[in-house]
Amino acid sequence: MAAVVAIGGCAFDGPMSTLVARSDLNRSILSVYKIITWAISIIGLLVFALLAIVLLRYRDRPGAALPRQIHGHTAMEIGWTIAPALVLLIIAIPTIQIIFRTQSAAAPKNALEVRVRGWQWWWEFRYPTLDVATANEVHLPVGRPVVFVMEGPDVIHSFWIPQLGGKRDVVPGHVNRITLTPEAPGEYWGQCAEYCGTSHANMMLRVFVEESAAFDRWVAAQKAPPAEPTGDAVAGKEVFARSACVGCHTIRGVSAGGLGPDLTHFGSRKLFGAGMWETNVEKVAEWVKDPPRLKPGTKMPNLHLSDADSKAVAAYLVGLK
Ligand code: CUA
Repeated sequence: MAAVVAIGGCAFDGPMSTLVARSDLNRSILSVYKIITWAISIIGLLVFALLAIVLLRYRDRPGAALPRQIHGHTAMEIGWTIAPALVLLIIAIPTIQIIFRTQSAAAPKNALEVRVRGWQWWWEFRYPTLDVATANEVHLPVGRPVVFVMEGPDVIHSFWIPQLGGKRDVVPGHVNRITLTPEAPGEYWGQCAEYCGTSHANMMLRVFVEESAAFDRWVAAQKAPPAEPTGDAVAGKEVFARSACVGCHTIRGVSAGGLGPDLTHFGSRKLFGAGMWETNVEKVAEWVKDPPRLKPGTKMPNLHLSDADSKAVAAYLVGLK
């Protein structure tokens, strides 16, 4: 049993656990969990106690007559209609309050806006006030409210960072929001939580919550022009610039595609492929060589690059810190 729980990633404070709150939103969600847990515990005890009494008192005894039979009892009928409605009401009041508070269009004035788009199968993040675009990895300053403004260009996805908040659907043609304040620095895992096609399970994200100085350094680095390649990477930039890569990806000053992740600072990301692999030249080369082999259903086609060209492109991309 312990092994099943551990292997299943269900540790109490594991990266996908919702049981330890690291944002105001998650504290609110946990408070509703607490109400529900108390309510069902008390109701469960009551039901089992009553059941035990009835089973003992009316059990079949030798020679006992059949107890008086009753058909229909208005008071009880009304009772067990009203009682569950009351329980639902008690749960609904705080739940609806939290949904409205964190979904409202009026986020706090100092909130950092992050635009989220869910694509098959990766996450686009834009910071309109900072003029920063990235993919699959969000950086946030600790203690400052953030409002995620979400919409989907293709199918419905669901934005979920178990320790910070969500899930909330990312829907084509409709803007959804989550407002929350991350309360502890750290690296948080996220996952698309709505089945969205072949690589739904391969649609992960990371959130890096940092002290504000570290966040400011990250923003400055993201705003900088892309690094100029050296060594192997020089050829890689040439291959990139003359291949179909430019149709889908933006590298500022090099290409302006908008269908795939912005790669201007690709090398600064810890992981790539929407959280699938660590960013290093070997793995990126393998990916560039044949993306559909590594990630089923990916929209990035096999461009039939040679081994040497794949390696060079990988060296160029990883060098884009
Ligand atoms: Cu996107 Cu599931």
